[in-house]
This record gives sequence, structure tokens and C-alpha cells, in this order.
Amino acid sequence: MITRILKVDRDRPDPAAIEEAAQAIAAGKLVVFPTETVYGLGAHALDPAAVQKIFDAKERPANDPLIVHIAHIGQVNQCAVGMPAGARKLALSFWAGPLTLVLPKKPVVPDLVTAGLPSVALRVPAHRVARALMEMSGVPVAAPSANRFSRPSPTTAEHVLEDLDGRVDLILDGGATDIGVESTIVDFTSDPPVIRRPGGITFEQVHSLVPDVVVAEGTADGDQPQLAPGQLLKHYAPRAEMTLYEGASTELVKRIAADARSAVASGETVGILAPEEDLVALAPLIAPSAAVGKIVVQPLGARADLDRAARELFAAIRTLDATGVSRIFASSPGTDGLGRAVRDRLMRAANGRIRTVV
Ligand code: TXA
Ligand code: MG
Repeated sequence: MITRILKVDRDRPDPAAIEEAAQAIAAGKLVVFPTETVYGLGAHALDPAAVQKIFDAKERPANDPLIVHIAHIGQVNQCAVGMPAGARKLALSFWAGPLTLVLPKKPVVPDLVTAGLPSVALRVPAHRVARALMEMSGVPVAAPSANRFSRPSPTTAEHVLEDLDGRVDLILDGGATDIGVESTIVDFTSDPPVIRRPGGITFEQVHSLVPDVVVAEGTADGDQPQLAPGQLLKHYAPRAEMTLYEGASTELVKRIAADARSAVASGETVGILAPEEDLVALAPLIAPSAAVGKIVVQPLGARADLDRAARELFAAIRTLDATGVSRIFASSPGTDGLGRAVRDRLMRAANGRIRTVV
């Protein structure tokens, strides 16, 4: 298959490009499109043969259900049975936007989409290109992130090509995405409702409207339908072995510097992924050693700018990985606001390898 790439203006997408993409969706083809979070790998959600192609292209296990994208809240009842009051509040406040609601599904949604679960995950994306595509195709679009399974999610069309060139029919290239981490998934088929994945809408925002919401913890059995992506811990994974450091920033910086130097001494090459302030503090701690040249530093936003950390996260992991380092030491941004989503992705990229510094 030859992958066709169409550049689109993110603010005023060319109707001809959207029309071509909408026809491809209707014809059961695979179309990659930008959303405000990450790029999605889309197919006609009510066409099982089209949905199967998503799993094949991504090499995604069949027990990992897909998010269904719709153009507006009025389309919910096409796929789901009713909307509890809390879900309605969230949708009215945060749609279109990085929020996914899990609701009881209608039979029209194929089991393939939901991995056999009696629920369906629905989201109205805010990105102009994504919305235009949903509107023009007129059908719900199933779309996971447009990466190969377990790789970091793509925030540019270049990332998509790295993983899926020759495996999809069309890529709408709308430039880099804004938010950079995926949508927040809130499951309303549980009582109380559960945040299955932290994302672009913060816990604080959800909690302000749904005070009884709880955050899902722990990991599930790999053979069960996956209620949240990272329940298979290894996810968003770089090739390098990654460790996530948590704790107060001064101690944390010293510990990362010491561990980086000893890793280099034992023949490793090390990438350090940390906010700019940490890198400034780190520089004198690694500079005097023979480690220089064996340590690659990669900024990840700034402590005071979690939006930027989220936006840059997946690209930073891909960039560091492309340098060929054998180990990555990452600094945790904590759990406030968007930090919770960034920390979640780092923890999964690190396959649960967390070092708490006290
Ligand atoms: O921001 C996003 O949500 C992006 C863009 C493309 O919209 N999409 C995305 O999809 O992140 P994906 O496939 O990477 O993550 C979907 C996750 C699945 O791993 C699954 O665990 C959860 O959503 N999910 C889907 N259906 C579910 C359901 N019925 N119940 C619980 N969780 C579900
Ligand atoms: Mg994904």
C-alpha cells in the first residue's frame, strides 16, 4: 500500500482534502488525522472489516478497545444508551476537547471496536481537521493513536510515518498537535465513575463537576479487555531502558547525576529527560566527569510550564531514543494538573521502573 500524505491548514482545512479523507473513511480505508491531543488512526467505526484494518496496521492486540470519535454531542445516542448526569455535565463543559466518556454501548457498535465490552468510549475532538472529517464523513470514526502498538503516541505526521508508512491509505498532515498527551478517559459504567486514563482534561477539572469521581489504580491481567491503555504496563515505550525519578528536585537532580555517571562508567550511554531547571542544575554535576559525550540531555518543558511538558513529551522520548542511548533517566513532573498525565506516560514508558528519591 502506498501512503498518501495531504498537507492541511489546521485552522482552515481545504474542503477538497477533507472530502477525499471522508470518502476514504466511507470506503472502509484507513485515514490518519490530527486531533488536539495526538494523531489518530481512523476507520469507519460501524464497519468491522475497516476496524480490523486498524488492529492489523498497528499490530494492536484485539483485547485493547478503540475510542470512537464523533462530530458533536448529538451523535452520542447513535453509539451509546443514555448519558448519566455526570457524563452530560462533563460533555457540555469539555467537548469538543480532550475528554473521552465510556458509556453503555448500542448493539450497532461492533464487538471488535469495544473488545467485547458492553461499553463504548466516545470523544468529540476539538481539532478543526478532525471535526471537519467527522462532520463530512457523517459516521462515527474509531481511532486509536496512530503509532505502532506500545510505541510513543505521534504528535506530528513525521512520527506517524516512522511507524505506519505503507500501512495506512492517507495521512492528513496538520502539523504538530497542541496538547500532546491523549484524552482523559472517564468511565461512567462504574459507580462511582472512574478516570481510566489521566489526560488533557485534568483530574481537578473532572472532579470539580463530578465530585465522586475516583482514579483507577493498578494493572490488570494482560488477557482481559483493557479498560485503560497502560494496564499493559509497557506502553509508550522507548527502545532504551527508562527509569523514572520522583522526589524533591534538588535531591532528585543529584541522584540522577550520580546514577548517570555510574551508568556511563559501566559502559552505558545515557539520556536525561528533565525540565529545563533540572538540566541547568545537572550541568555542573555531570560536566567534570569523563561522562561528557556519553550523556545526552533532552529538555522536557519547564517545572512551571506543564502544558509545554505535555506537548513535548512524546517527541522528546522519540528524539532521545533516536540518539541510540541505552538508558533514559527521566524526572517526574508530579501529579498537579497536566503533570498527572505526563507522569502516567513516563511511568508506563519506564515499564513501572520508578526510583523515589528522599
Ligand atoms: O486523545 C485520544 O484519546 C487519542 C486521539 C486519537 O483521540 N486516542 C487514543 O486512543 O489515545 P488509544 O487507542 O491510544 O487509547 C484508547 C484507550 C484504550 O487503550 C482503551 O483501554 C480505552 O481507551 N478504552 C476504549 N474503549 C473502552 C471501554 N469501552 N471501556 C474502557 N476503556 C476503553
Ligand atoms: Mg495509544
